[in-house]
Amino acid sequence: MSEKIADDEWEWYIGQLFAKLIEKVHKGKLKNVVELAPGFRYKVAFALKEFNFNGNIYVIDTNLEVLEYVKEKYLKLLPEANIICINSTFRNSFEMIPQEFDLFLSNHSIDDMIIAEYMEKVYTNNLGNDDFKDILSKAWVELGKDKEMKETIINNVYLSFKKFFEEKKIETIIMSQYKSNLYFKDKFTEMDEITENCFNKIKQLIQMDNENINKILKFYPFGEDDERYNGRYLLDNTQNAKNWIVSCQHYVNMV
Ligand SMILES: C[S@@+](CC[C@H](N)C(=O)[O-])C[C@H]1O[C@@H](n2cnc3c(N)ncnc32)[C@H](O)[C@@H]1O
Repeated sequence: MSEKIADDEWEWYIGQLFAKLIEKVHKGKLKNVVELAPGFRYKVAFALKEFNFNGNIYVIDTNLEVLEYVKEKYLKLLPEANIICINSTFRNSFEMIPQEFDLFLSNHSIDDMIIAEYMEKVYTNNLGNDDFKDILSKAWVELGKDKEMKETIINNVYLSFKKFFEEKKIETIIMSQYKSNLYFKDKFTEMDEITENCFNKIKQLIQMDNENINKILKFYPFGEDDERYNGRYLLDNTQNAKNWIVSCQHYVNMV
């Protein structure tokens, strides 16, 4: 399946998880939102639709075609929103977004940030092509073998989040990094190991109440009888605090 074709049900489902977390954790206004690395996807738009979002959303992505896609798709789901596209790497985008904002959202972006940094132009030039998954798979296996490069990139990605969280005043941060179905099938472990290592480092930057987040995530967007809940697959993966970074100024001030 092409990278450009999304599974609408999946987009809606992850969107529901973001919406629930925003509803339960974010106490302030919902005016200025920043999203990092949407890809050819729209989970965050589905989430914000639950709030009839009519503020500004700054969307950062290195791929111009992605931003064109996002602009059109998000406007359909969020007709009242102002969509500001920022064609930049995360680390070079800081000056183009406000110093203070309400919500930072990013779904499953850490793996792509790591491998894009490793592959350089080959990543963005091939994103959306039919053979992109094969190119990615090879790159992950290759990176897995290069210990020094692996550590350098993990640290670079980590440091860009550290700088961002230190420089910006953000009311609520919500990021996910669950395991990817696509890669389970291939049965190679490099992607998961490297990504988890980096994600957990970033997670150390914030304070998070895992118990509370697990309580919030225990709900059933597909319905309690859905087979995916019987096998606990979703509850162990997408609906599990270990695969989320959730930090709220309001909450930090309370504890
Ligand atoms: C596949 S998407 C991530 C998953 C997507 N958010 C979802 O919900 O399924 C990855 C996106 O990250 C972008 N990207 C990769 N590295 C980046 C970086 N350092 N800064 C900004 N965008 C980046 C790519 O251009 C791509 O559009």
